[in-house]
Amino acid sequence: MEIVRPFRVDSAARRVEILDQTRLPGEQVWITLKDPAQIIEAIQSLRVRGAPAIGVAGAYAMWLADDPLGWAARIAAARPTAVNLSWAVDRMLRCISRGGDLFAEADAIREEDEAACHAIGRYGAALLGQTSSVLTHCNAGSLATAGYGTALGVIYAAVEGGKSIAVIACETRPLLQGARLTAYELQHAGVDVTLIADSVTASLMASGRVDAVVVGADRIARNGDVANKIGTYAVALAARAHDVPFYVAAPRSTFDLNCPNGAAIPIEERSAAEVTEGFGVRTAPEGVCVYSPAFDITPAALVTSLIVDTGVIPAVEAEIVAAIGGS
Ligand code: MRU
Repeated sequence: MEIVRPFRVDSAARRVEILDQTRLPGEQVWITLKDPAQIIEAIQSLRVRGAPAIGVAGAYAMWLADDPLGWAARIAAARPTAVNLSWAVDRMLRCISRGGDLFAEADAIREEDEAACHAIGRYGAALLGQTSSVLTHCNAGSLATAGYGTALGVIYAAVEGGKSIAVIACETRPLLQGARLTAYELQHAGVDVTLIADSVTASLMASGRVDAVVVGADRIARNGDVANKIGTYAVALAARAHDVPFYVAAPRSTFDLNCPNGAAIPIEERSAAEVTEGFGVRTAPEGVCVYSPAFDITPAALVTSLIVDTGVIPAVEAEIVAAIGGS
């Protein structure tokens, strides 16, 4: 199975290369990043995106900074919702205070994330039937992590383990991470994938053609509420209405035990242009008012299980989530 990889790092040349996700699926363009300002720009423009991947990018930004203490707050604030970014910056700050090697620490964050994805994959694959149709929203794949993916890690592990998995990928308006990235990386890996417009989700479940939903997360609060790509909550509501299990796959670095519940999670708002003239085509009148949150909150009660790198948490309860020991 050929799984795309989002990062290339050259410590001697002091540079990080990322596969520019704004150019996919049409072009595979690697861009070179040599300082924290370039990495912040890449994070904010979604050249690199997905909670664990921006954590890894943020860690490398700290390594590349001449003055990492001076840059830390700006790097951590590049995008507000995924806690992995501030988690990684905090970890780099702790490394500085003990006089550690910043490159080694950033590389460890990348390697640990990839290992966590494989563990999530193993735990999650066991939850899927031998022949399953699995719906996912946004992109929680190799491109969104250090490699392999969280939600798609579950798919990859199931397929590698011999299960017959058909993936249904929601296109994920407005920036089409499902159409552009999930469909791309699953095709690349040779996994069966069918793309749907987001609005098809509920009727597809009603027709009995979805066996499970697996999505990723940007931040999970202490009570188990989940922030993920806008539209995830609607998928969870439809899943509950049709008795379809709804799984959330995420590493421990996505848990924020300082956040009591989803209402405390900051939700990023994106520019109006991403809705009115996405990808350069104007689809709304000039001057129209736009509201474009990038994420929403799925209440813990709608989550069947959390699939974490330490195991599966069957029922989402504050005590259980706290017990896994998040960031
Ligand atoms: O705005 P994006 O593309 O960074 O949003 C990404 C998501 O919502 C993912 O589902 C989430 O970060 C999990 S990635 C393993």
